[in-house]
Amino acid sequence: MSGVSLPRLGSPAPEFEAESTQGRVTLADFRGQWLVLFSHPADFTPVCTTEFIAFAKAAPAFEARGAVLLGLSIDSLYAHLAWLQRLEERFGVAVPFPVLADHDRAVAMAYGMIMPGESTTETSRCLFMIDPDGIVRAMIYYPMSAGRSIPEVLRLLDSLQLTRRAGLATPADWQPGEPAIEPAPRSIEEARVRAADPAARDWFFRLRPPPA
Ligand code: BEZ
Repeated sequence: MSGVSLPRLGSPAPEFEAESTQGRVTLADFRGQWLVLFSHPADFTPVCTTEFIAFAKAAPAFEARGAVLLGLSIDSLYAHLAWLQRLEERFGVAVPFPVLADHDRAVAMAYGMIMPGESTTETSRCLFMIDPDGIVRAMIYYPMSAGRSIPEVLRLLDSLQLTRRAGLATPADWQPGEPAIEPAPRSIEEARVRAADPAARDWFFRLRPPPA
């Protein structure tokens, strides 16, 4: 397999239409909501099981943020149905979000989810945050061996939503409610004004309490 082509931040998300555990879905179905599309390598595997349990438990937190979860792997619909049923029976966790059965790899290829150095037959742990206008705002790529941190996924979503709402950026290790960062000045005049502000650390650095 030659190069992997990835979506681009700030560009429209690749369109898709695929079968899922909750019926056929298309990208357009999610317009007006934040979409968190994530791939896992395979059903009936241990790390994926822990991730699905964690995403399922956090589903209300995503819903509270106006976000929808959508899982994906290159398994069949029947494998997904059997695995989700097993998660409910053995772990007492019902997965409330749809899982795409990307049997023909069409979505995996469009989103660059197959990393040939890891596997040519399974998707790596890729996650895309797509805004209500269908624009890719964040991408996270993890290797198959490492389960993702769902609190970090939620923190990233909070940051993206703050940026969309208030035009603010967020500093390292930011948590919701903490001060955010104003964009750096883009002209000499703006820099002079900022430098004269006693609330600014420097001409390029001013924090602001995030809006409620
Ligand atoms: C897992 O989910 O445990 C797993 C799947 C594929 C490769 C490595 C681990």
